[in-house]
Amino acid sequence: MIEKGLAAVILAAGQGTRMKSALPKVLHPVAGQPMLGHVLRVAQAVGASPVVPVVGHGAEQVRAIFEAEEITFALQSEQLGTGHALLCAESVLGDFSGDLLLLCGDVPLLQESTLQRLIAHHRSHGAVVTILTAMMGDPTGYGRIIRGESGVERIVEEKDATREEKEVAEINTGIYLFEAPQVFELLRSVGNRNAQGEYYLTDVVAAACSAGKRVEVLSVEDNREAMGINDRRQLALANAVLFERINDCHMLEGVTLVDPTAVYIDHDVVIGSDTLLHPGVHLRGRTRIGRDCVIEPGVVVTDCQIGDRVHLKAGSVLTESIIGDECTIGPMAHLRSGTVLDGQNKLGNFVETKKALIGRKSQASHLTYIGDATLGQNVNVGCGTITCNYDGVNKHQTIIEDDVFVGSDSQLVAPVRIGHGSLIGAGSTITKDVPPDSLALSRSEQRVIEGWAARKREKQKKK
Ligand code: UD1
Ligand code: CA
Repeated sequence: MIEKGLAAVILAAGQGTRMKSALPKVLHPVAGQPMLGHVLRVAQAVGASPVVPVVGHGAEQVRAIFEAEEITFALQSEQLGTGHALLCAESVLGDFSGDLLLLCGDVPLLQESTLQRLIAHHRSHGAVVTILTAMMGDPTGYGRIIRGESGVERIVEEKDATREEKEVAEINTGIYLFEAPQVFELLRSVGNRNAQGEYYLTDVVAAACSAGKRVEVLSVEDNREAMGINDRRQLALANAVLFERINDCHMLEGVTLVDPTAVYIDHDVVIGSDTLLHPGVHLRGRTRIGRDCVIEPGVVVTDCQIGDRVHLKAGSVLTESIIGDECTIGPMAHLRSGTVLDGQNKLGNFVETKKALIGRKSQASHLTYIGDATLGQNVNVGCGTITCNYDGVNKHQTIIEDDVFVGSDSQLVAPVRIGHGSLIGAGSTITKDVPPDSLALSRSEQRVIEGWAARKREKQKKK
């Protein structure tokens, strides 16, 4: 027997009025990824090909976000309803014949295992339509599954439902498996005489029943998967569910979360075992964290690679940086993009770095800015040091070679090079290169006038 083909259409053209947002609804992030991204992934995971999102509202914005993925979109230029939206994908599917999975761009929690069950059920029952349903404690807002003597007869939308129908707790998740091209024939018979004047995809069910086609239902096991995101409260709930799933995975892999309800880890983040995460930690994007690290409260890490046994202290923010093994960062350090620490480095409180390559064991313990700089090994940067990298027009490089000691409150005016083994006297403004093994000082000599303060006090008393 030849394996049946599987294609997917994802409805994502609606405006999402209830979000009250300038951003198309399907681009709102859930656990760091646009809602539509989650749906695309799950469709690809069950092997659907092609996967065709139907876009309309904010179509250009949506396309741009998924540019890299080589997806063919269908366009629904006027949002005339979910049924009309599916019809808009027909030409993109061409002469596809097989199982057509229909997903919604605003149902991002759906899991691969549930779709596998849906596909198996549909195929084993030889159905033309299989609806994924859920039992909801509060079904308000969803389409209700209306059953007759011989099984499911139709779906009625909240706005079209009678009081009795509204009591039905079995709801339409908006996910279906259809037989293509049959579903398109059925869709063409669907009208728009309903409360919203839309072509409802849900009316395919009644059309299939009238035509004597087999309609099946399958219920999701965990009805949180079926949650459609229509407003910001549901968005917050979806985030909570997805973060919980992600956190559970990490805990089972040996990561300690002191309070898993208060740690926010994006989908693609990788964390080594025995790493400890305190509350209020955000790990975002493509971040990778090694083993045996400690990440204290309020740390935000975005797109970083972090080695083993690294200690990130409270309130530090790290972006697009590479941190070698055994570094200690913070509290309240700010590592901006292009920071690379070789390992065993210490950057203390209120240290900011940007495009800074810092050799092994070099450190800056307090109140320092290091930008557009290359530091060798064992460099000690004193409190209050600033690389003056910007002249108002261009950025310039500071190079500090191995074993340099920069005294506190120094300014290094770039471009400038400090030769290895040199010492910069505290309070210096360095504008010229310093040869190796030298002392550079640039402060005026100290004057002391003995007794001056006492004489001033005497004078004031006499006034
Ligand atoms: C829909 C279902 C409802 C189901 C619920 C599950 C219909 C008529 N109703 O209602 O039975 O319980 O989903 O979450 O299908 N869309 C388009 N083009 C349009 C209209 C909508 O692409 O013209 C897209 C939206 O972007 C969204 C999805 O279809 O991703 C569902 O649309 P939405 O308006 O949210 O439908 P619901 O009222 O939630
Ligand atoms: Ca919806």
